[in-house]
Amino acid sequence: MELFDVYSLYDIEPVSGKGSHVFTADGTEYLDLYGGHAVISIGHAHPKYVKAVSDQVGRLGFYSNSVQNSLQKRLAEKLGKASGYPDYSLFLCNSGAEANENAMKLASFTTGRSKILAFGKAFHGRTSGAVAATDNPNIQAPFNRTENVVFVPLNDSEAMRKALATKEFAGVIIEGIQGVSGIHEPTEEFLRELSEECKKTGTLLILDEIQSGYGRSGKFFAHQYSGIRPDIITCAKGIANGFPCGAVLISPEIPAKKGMLGTTFGGNHLACAAAIAVLDVMEEENLVENAAEVGEYLISELRKIPGVKDVRGRGLMIGLEVEGFTGSDLRKRLLFDHHIFTGGAGQYTVRLLPALSLSKEDADRFLTEFKKAITA
Ligand SMILES: Cc1ncc(COP(=O)(O)O)c(C=O)c1O
Repeated sequence: MELFDVYSLYDIEPVSGKGSHVFTADGTEYLDLYGGHAVISIGHAHPKYVKAVSDQVGRLGFYSNSVQNSLQKRLAEKLGKASGYPDYSLFLCNSGAEANENAMKLASFTTGRSKILAFGKAFHGRTSGAVAATDNPNIQAPFNRTENVVFVPLNDSEAMRKALATKEFAGVIIEGIQGVSGIHEPTEEFLRELSEECKKTGTLLILDEIQSGYGRSGKFFAHQYSGIRPDIITCAKGIANGFPCGAVLISPEIPAKKGMLGTTFGGNHLACAAAIAVLDVMEEENLVENAAEVGEYLISELRKIPGVKDVRGRGLMIGLEVEGFTGSDLRKRLLFDHHIFTGGAGQYTVRLLPALSLSKEDADRFLTEFKKAITA
């Protein structure tokens, strides 16, 4: 059997990792400024994570959501504390798209309305509702296209107000920082206006923090820079450092009803053990603060480099564009000539999404190699 050929692959295979470094089978080392697409939060093969997951799989890897699972309760308590949302409740699932799918469903169940407002260039995942709210017709099948999703430009207050005034929308979905579009932020003022407008019109505000959350922006959630409190927040990626896991954080104003949401694998024992270990390590090693500090350092140093046209983002979620390079050319050069993994977005943007534990030394190594790469 062949693999279904949907990915453009680099001809390289990491087989092990340690912190912000990965290694191929012949022992060649690479600096990982990509984190496997913003997924590696506490670093590769963190010993506490390895022990927690290994111990759990040796005890009980899985049982269904028809019995008590105290690991889920422990995770909810820790996540509530770490995120600043101890009064919210938690629904666990398996991926980012699934988290958004459930968030939009919940908004619709709660309000009785059927429409979702989304923003230009948004990416919310590949499942049917999530991809319908993604502003990219190339990845929507005819089956996914629906009049229930309406797009307005990001940061366009007038268009947003006009749409919500119809009171037809169950929810608005917005990324804390747009990732796939190439690192574009809603302004703090726009988020505050959006939150107010949602309250006025009975629309639920869904913050997609799948890429920008879990410490990546230098705060636990990127929207926390604006001081708003959304009705629903979605997480995935860094939540379990690579073990598949998604989460929906739900305001106490939204009532649960037996059977309204559900999943076979979501919240399983292994995912919970992995996610608890991530929160423990994030707390013990002050990783949110590290993301803020090392991120600020990287952003300010990158802005000083001649030839760098634009640097966008916060914390360790950074997009940059360089004079004379497409994103894909620069990424290839960084990977094959300088042994550094980075991410891409659109034609010109290179994305940096390293582990939140990235050290200042590794940031300096990146800066040195990056300068060589763009002047070679
Ligand atoms: C903001 C955002 N939302 C949703 C998703 C979808 O997550 P997943 O690939 O886990 O379904 C992504 C993935 O890149 C994302 O960046």
